[in-house]
Amino acid sequence: MKKRQLGPCITFFPQPTTLIATCNAAGDVNLMTASWVGIVSKTPPTLAVALHQQRQTYENLLATGCFTVNLVPASLVVEADFCGLKSGRDTDKPASSGLTLEPATKVATPLVAESPLNVECRVVGEHHLGDYRLVLGEILEIHATDAAFDAEGRMDARAFDPLVYLGGIREYWSLGEKRGDAYRDGIRLFGDKTGQ
Ligand SMILES: Cc1cc2nc3c(=O)[nH]c(=O)nc-3n(C[C@H](O)[C@H](O)[C@H](O)COP(=O)(O)O)c2cc1C
Repeated sequence: MKKRQLGPCITFFPQPTTLIATCNAAGDVNLMTASWVGIVSKTPPTLAVALHQQRQTYENLLATGCFTVNLVPASLVVEADFCGLKSGRDTDKPASSGLTLEPATKVATPLVAESPLNVECRVVGEHHLGDYRLVLGEILEIHATDAAFDAEGRMDARAFDPLVYLGGIREYWSLGEKRGDAYRDGIRLFGDKTGQ
């Protein structure tokens, strides 16, 4: 495969598209689109999000010590893009986006009702990277849409229909076809026990 060198940059994908919900000290809710989000530990379950230090979201998160991460389904591409263009400093994004908020169970920050997967986090750490702050959130609860479960409790990814962000080329995509099951299909797909 012939390749081009892109140099040190941020072209790397896929990334999830999420909405981070936070509150300021007065309880006003803000929503911000974030794709630099991922699971970083299983025990304790921990998620990391990288935020520019000037985001209203970062200020809120420092003030209250909690946040929620709400997975964006492909049907909410317009709302997600809007929450990634406007700042809570001058726009009431929950009101203008038309999204609905509902109470979380373990933190004071609300969830986005239209999101099929919501994660409640408490801030447990922070690492400074230039203008960015890598914030670590311990996962206290996860809410997954009932529509994703079959009678045996297995989850079907189609119910989540995650909006995928291609960082560096700024495009939104949705998922394609299922190609296998991790671990189980490692044996079938590769003929040995190295699947991981
Ligand atoms: C698809 C997408 C993903 C984004 N991901 C991030 C991110 O991970 N971290 C970040 O600091 N800003 C990210 N942004 C930019 C913020 O969403 C944007 O600056 C927003 O206006 C900040 O809102 P706030 O000031 O209300 O917190 C993203 C924007 C888009 C459109």
